[in-house]
Amino acid sequence: MDFIKRIIYPTHRTPVSNLQENFKDKWVVITGASKGIGFELSETLIAAKANLFLLARSEPELKQLCEKALQNGCKAEYRVIDLRDREALVRLCNDLHNQLPYIDYLFVNAGKSIHRKLINTLDRIHDFDRTMDLNFRALVAMSLALQSNIKSAKGKIVYTSSISTLYPSAPGWAAYHASKEAANVWCRTADVEYSSFGVKVKVAYMPLVHTEMSNVNETYRKMPAFSAKEAADILIYLSLNNRHSYMPWWARISTPIATLLSPIIRFIFRKFF
Ligand SMILES: NC(=O)c1ccc[n+]([C@@H]2O[C@H](COP(=O)([O-])OP(=O)(O)OC[C@H]3O[C@@H](n4cnc5c(N)ncnc54)[C@H](OP(=O)(O)O)[C@@H]3O)[C@@H](O)[C@H]2O)c1
Repeated sequence: MDFIKRIIYPTHRTPVSNLQENFKDKWVVITGASKGIGFELSETLIAAKANLFLLARSEPELKQLCEKALQNGCKAEYRVIDLRDREALVRLCNDLHNQLPYIDYLFVNAGKSIHRKLINTLDRIHDFDRTMDLNFRALVAMSLALQSNIKSAKGKIVYTSSISTLYPSAPGWAAYHASKEAANVWCRTADVEYSSFGVKVKVAYMPLVHTEMSNVNETYRKMPAFSAKEAADILIYLSLNNRHSYMPWWARISTPIATLLSPIIRFIFRKFF
């Protein structure tokens, strides 16, 4: 099992010396820093002596990370925020814009996943509002409001997306996948437009990661997957290399095949799911 995991989920750890070289004294903003991938990302960047601005709704975890960062000689701040709250988001963006003269890295990682068939969604338009607001709108609002700060640093925006958006649409995932796919398209467009001023916008098409989000599904809990730390290492690896996106090696092979076979896959979805 361990062997299979290593083949399907190859890790990309950046050496500590490289981490410090690239992140020491840089300003890094991370959304969804309180748990899972974002928490591990924050921990790794504290060790690299980055300056951090951390965002999420859970205060104790953000406070704990900031205390650790300060003890390690980093500058660190946090803001408790529900990123779906549009007014709070405007206030946050104004504060970040005024407080941080430049932003070297913006990791847009906070996310919400919903699996519910459309037939069970008749009175739940809010499922679509919530996923769009968090998974898509917050990315756009922050990137636009902080454009000049990121531009000053020739910085990078790294979005945590999902590999499942690259395959034929699976039943039950309309709200999650629509919001993630909207963000993918926005990132790809922004990467082209922002290239003239040296800003890169990257997408991590993340496969399964064992976190609170995926562990609600018992099947996923039993499947091989990245740990949150390994997924955080991938975000760092992507932020430092020249690629526009990350996906595991097998996705490069299987996504074109899945597109070719999509009529058959859709038939199976219709019949059995
Ligand atoms: N786990 C996977 O298998 C997997 C696969 C592909 C992509 N992803 C993506 O990876 C990213 C991180 O997910 P994860 O697996 O690390 O999940 P997680 O452990 O549930 O963490 C999600 C993070 O987002 C924050 N968040 C959720 N709702 C928020 C809101 N309304 N406002 C502000 N912050 C909010 C959470 O903090 P609070 O609850 O404290 O607000 C938490 O820090 C997500 O974008 C997810 O879609 C995950």
